[in-house]
Amino acid sequence: MAPRPDHPFLQACRGLPAEHVPVWFMRQAGRSLPEYNQLKGDVSILDAVEQPELAAELTMQPVRRYGVDAAIFYSDIVVPARAIGFGIDIVAGVGPVAEQPFRTEEDLERLPVLVPEEHSPYIAETVRILVDELGDRPLIGFAGAPFTVASYLIEGRPSRTYEHTKRMMFAEPELFAALLDRLADIAIASLRDQITAGASAVQLFDSWAGALSPPVYERHVLPHSRKVFDAIADLDVPRIHFGVGTGEILGLMGDAGADVVGIDWRVPLDVARTRVPGKAVQGNLDPAVTFAGWDATRDAVDDVLARNGGRPGHVFNLGHGVLPNTDPDILARVVDHVHEHGRADGATA
Ligand code: CP3
Repeated sequence: MAPRPDHPFLQACRGLPAEHVPVWFMRQAGRSLPEYNQLKGDVSILDAVEQPELAAELTMQPVRRYGVDAAIFYSDIVVPARAIGFGIDIVAGVGPVAEQPFRTEEDLERLPVLVPEEHSPYIAETVRILVDELGDRPLIGFAGAPFTVASYLIEGRPSRTYEHTKRMMFAEPELFAALLDRLADIAIASLRDQITAGASAVQLFDSWAGALSPPVYERHVLPHSRKVFDAIADLDVPRIHFGVGTGEILGLMGDAGADVVGIDWRVPLDVARTRVPGKAVQGNLDPAVTFAGWDATRDAVDDVLARNGGRPGHVFNLGHGVLPNTDPDILARVVDHVHEHGRADGATA
């Protein structure tokens, strides 16, 4: 069954009035849910992703528990690179770790074009199961943006300083561009695969783009992200673009071609709106405010809603992913509260 074309989430992504303010949470599936830990057990995320029934069930868990307006496909941004044979693993408590980081031109040979039917048939299979189960609720597909995936491949592990990545970008700009171009092709193939299998919207995660100044982002990163957005435009699904610490580059991230720009909690939503004119916005509750209990969380949710002021084109979300120790009951209350008190009809709040 296809999702309703006028589902509040899709309406909001298109900047149109909706019945209510739609809400979902980045990283809504995962360790904060007891049912996740129970079902997944000791299976690593990368093995779970290759099992369509399991991956679909892990995707559905937060949808059932929270009543969020959209599901996000359970996978990871390094899955396509792993599928084409670039040795990369996710180490518990650390994050993505590459056996042999990307450092020279010869490493480009380790990144062939992704052929989804051949390299990752389980992805389309999981999407098909989900579209069936979700009924009229949309599924969000996603990919890592070229820069953020490159940072893992080049560093070989999560980094705070991006030393190797920036060294390559400034010292060997042609190699860096060739890598990002290759990663753009991989993201395009992966997103097209998810959309043709039934995903109703996509998010490009450039989580670590906030490590760059506007001119550096514009020169070295934006053209590759734009290539991704342009290459899926014909499929006509809403495109969301998100990163952390991106206050200074929000306008550029919008220019890359997204319909919706994700805002982290550092930029008040009303200020963010002025930086991405004409775009819908997604965000931006501080995920850590939930640790302060319900009253503090409710006040923070109300503040986000008030700053949007009832304008159409707001997808409520956290400013980054759900933190592992989050109390799921508080997130459930957030969803109810947004549904009850959010205004998305364009009338002034
Ligand atoms: O949002 C969802 O619920 C869907 C699933 C999803 C995962 N990763 C599952 C996951 C999504 C959308 C991602 C994207 C992702 N992966 C990003 C972009 C989002 C962001 O956080 O900015 C990034 C940077 C990654 C890379 C990555 N994968 C990191 C940094 C980690 C954390 C390592 C850790 O253990 O804390 C992962 C692992 C990961 N990805 C887990 C999950 C559920 C945890 C591993 C597990 O539960 O076994």
